[in-house]
Amino acid sequence: MNDLTPTREQREAALEGMGCKRKRVEDVRFTQGKGNYVDDLKLPGMLHGDFVRSPHAHARVKSINGDAALKVPGVLAVITAETLKTVNLAWMPTLAGDVQMVLADGKVLFQNQEVAFVVATDRYAADDGINKVVVEYEPLPPLIDPFKAMDADAPVLREDLAGKMTGAHGPRKHHNHIFEWTVGDKDLTDAAFRKADVTIKEMISYHRTHPSPLETCQCVCSFDKIRGELTIWGTFQAPHVIRTVVALIAKLPEQKIHVISPDVGGGFGNKVGAYPGYICAAVASIVTGKPVKWVEDRIENLTATSFARDYHMTTEIASTKEGKVTGLRVHVLADHGAFDACADPSKWPAGFFNIVTGSYDFPTAHLSVDGIYTNKAPGGVAYRCSFRVTEAAYCIERGMDILAQKLGMDPAELRLRNFIKKEQFPYHSALGWEYDSGDYHTAMKKMMDTVDYAGLRKEQAEKRAAFKRGETREIMGLGVSFFTEIVGAGPSKNCDILGIAMFDSCEIRLHPTGAGIARVGTKSTGQGHETTWAQIIATEIGLPADNIMVEEGNTDTAPYGLGTYGSRSTPVAGAAIAMAARKIKAKAQMIAAYKLEVHEGDLEWDIDGFRVKGLPEKAMSMKDICWAAYNSVPPGMEPGLEAVSYYDPPNMTYPFGAYICVMNIDVDTGVYTIRRFYALDDCGTRINPMIIEGQVHGGLTEAFAIAMGQEIRYDDEGNVVTGSFMDFFMPTAVETPHWETDFTVTPSPHHPIGAKGVGESPNVGGVPAFSNAVNDAFSFLGSTHIQMPHDFWRNWKAAKNLGVFAA
Ligand code: CDP
Repeated sequence: MNDLTPTREQREAALEGMGCKRKRVEDVRFTQGKGNYVDDLKLPGMLHGDFVRSPHAHARVKSINGDAALKVPGVLAVITAETLKTVNLAWMPTLAGDVQMVLADGKVLFQNQEVAFVVATDRYAADDGINKVVVEYEPLPPLIDPFKAMDADAPVLREDLAGKMTGAHGPRKHHNHIFEWTVGDKDLTDAAFRKADVTIKEMISYHRTHPSPLETCQCVCSFDKIRGELTIWGTFQAPHVIRTVVALIAKLPEQKIHVISPDVGGGFGNKVGAYPGYICAAVASIVTGKPVKWVEDRIENLTATSFARDYHMTTEIASTKEGKVTGLRVHVLADHGAFDACADPSKWPAGFFNIVTGSYDFPTAHLSVDGIYTNKAPGGVAYRCSFRVTEAAYCIERGMDILAQKLGMDPAELRLRNFIKKEQFPYHSALGWEYDSGDYHTAMKKMMDTVDYAGLRKEQAEKRAAFKRGETREIMGLGVSFFTEIVGAGPSKNCDILGIAMFDSCEIRLHPTGAGIARVGTKSTGQGHETTWAQIIATEIGLPADNIMVEEGNTDTAPYGLGTYGSRSTPVAGAAIAMAARKIKAKAQMIAAYKLEVHEGDLEWDIDGFRVKGLPEKAMSMKDICWAAYNSVPPGMEPGLEAVSYYDPPNMTYPFGAYICVMNIDVDTGVYTIRRFYALDDCGTRINPMIIEGQVHGGLTEAFAIAMGQEIRYDDEGNVVTGSFMDFFMPTAVETPHWETDFTVTPSPHHPIGAKGVGESPNVGGVPAFSNAVNDAFSFLGSTHIQMPHDFWRNWKAAKNLGVFAA
């Protein structure tokens, strides 16, 4: 070896493989304004569509008159439900087994529901046309309060379901009932409660909010009449699923549908489902033969596309007096809005909410969920969480704090006493999951040591005493949260969408010069897949990550995948990428053996190529093997180096984390100060620590928003009162706290590279940390539970209700 021969460390560093803080390759275009988003697409002759929307939450539509709109210069068509009926598209199936109006058919069921679609030569003409469409409504009583949905005299919302007492998920109890879902052992759980020394019961609401990606939902549909082909560019998190759904509902041959997701400006679950805009733009393009663009504005996005949460969870925990939990009983009233358009795997009407036992060793548990209709927008998407997991984490993490308060025990101590122990993994939860791996005690203790938990509690005690003496008007809260996520939907044994198993896929094709392309069935909406997928390949096959181009989002080129949501990309597609790379490596080994004139078994892998065991100077780099694959493969072997993998995971992955929020609240104004937020995440093997940190920062910022103010709120008439960023809390750098991140590494035993998902963990763990901090601050004044969101006004009101004002 001379001085110029790279060392092993240098060879490894040159790959920028797993574990490297590789800079995001996509940022080169994003930071220069050179991204390519749907709205950047301008096709010759392109038309624009826009919606007439309902001002009422519940009303009969007596007539729609588009005559005046058609006289507006540039307006070409006014499409109504009657038009769509001619092509059998007035209603569309939802992912949850319900049906949903594409355009109002006789009735409107939520404010801003789509009533008519105006097509024009430009966006402005379409907007002018909308204002000229005359709709005659007969208002009906709106149903807004979910707790009144199943009253005997509650208005009938879904007249189309009249007489149908069975839905997609079993029997319906009432005309506004969608489903009841139960899991767990009721008798055993009831018995645990009868025997318990201590029990708690609290109605814990997780309010309605919205993913609100900066880029709203949009599409361009272009139908080629000669070829009979429909091309759809859209903001889709799951382009292949969209292609199949369009094929099924529009009855077009699937090979003649091309779905392309270009760069997407944030998804967070909002861009999983199918919206009326897509159907209307496609129909308009088929009718006119011209490309049609539909781009929603912010108000439309917030008020009409998929909301998140709206779960009202009556939570009961049974415990011994020493603080060992013995049973969990949860009933959820789930407000699904006007149509059941939840984006969950088909067999899971409440998603994976049955992860609600959290990180604790509950011997028994019982869960029941009632889904109901109200006059609100449909949806129920996993806003930066795996299906309903953030609701579950909030439920159990608030519940544990409430139990600690009743027992007079420290909340961290209660958690340590009840954690599933390291040696219990793989762990079977009382509600049916098999947790793959975890080391909760280590993570919790690391968090407590790092922040000096004991010191913070001491300071809090002193502050409380000072408050009681009237020396300060500030109270202090410590919000502890320990969450277990369930990500990587999922194993075909229990996860499908419309009957399609939730595998994911990767195709890798290496070129002669030692470069290549990887096409993956996922779709990055900002998570940096172009960067990290190449890192997995770099480590697996020893070519620099810079040599691998990653492509996603084109259904004609990418292998069929189920898309990106629920932090499934790394657990499922990440595994497919590693498996495809391993197939390539196996072929590469045969080529190397042939070229080096040894038996395959005599070779060993060495960072970026194969070498002969015991003869390190006799080696062949992966770069040279790529060349050989195109000119001198062993006799009988096909030339080329490419492989495809469709990966059906054996289990989900279970990332976890220990978070703490330290907060001060001024009781006279309700103004809070986040003094410190520490987040320890364990996502198994870490592909790119810098991207993980970015994911955690983003998720925590959303958690902060949700817990401290972000809300889709309705008045009694069903008007959305938080329909723009003036009212819907979207934190900027000014409000956002400083985040401290940390980690432990507990690899997944079943994932090829040991990685678990991470993108959603901070939202799942962050919300309870904030809420627990507020609740912990007020607890010494006699409060048990204050509902989110905890904005200044609500904090002030909480203080007022607790009587901390002298006047
Ligand atoms: O499905 P989604 O991409 O939203 O979530 P994810 O699988 O948690 O991945 C988010 C980003 O974090 C991706 O760029 C992953 O490659 C990266 N990541 C990582 O570097 N290491 C992990 N163990 C998990 C995710």
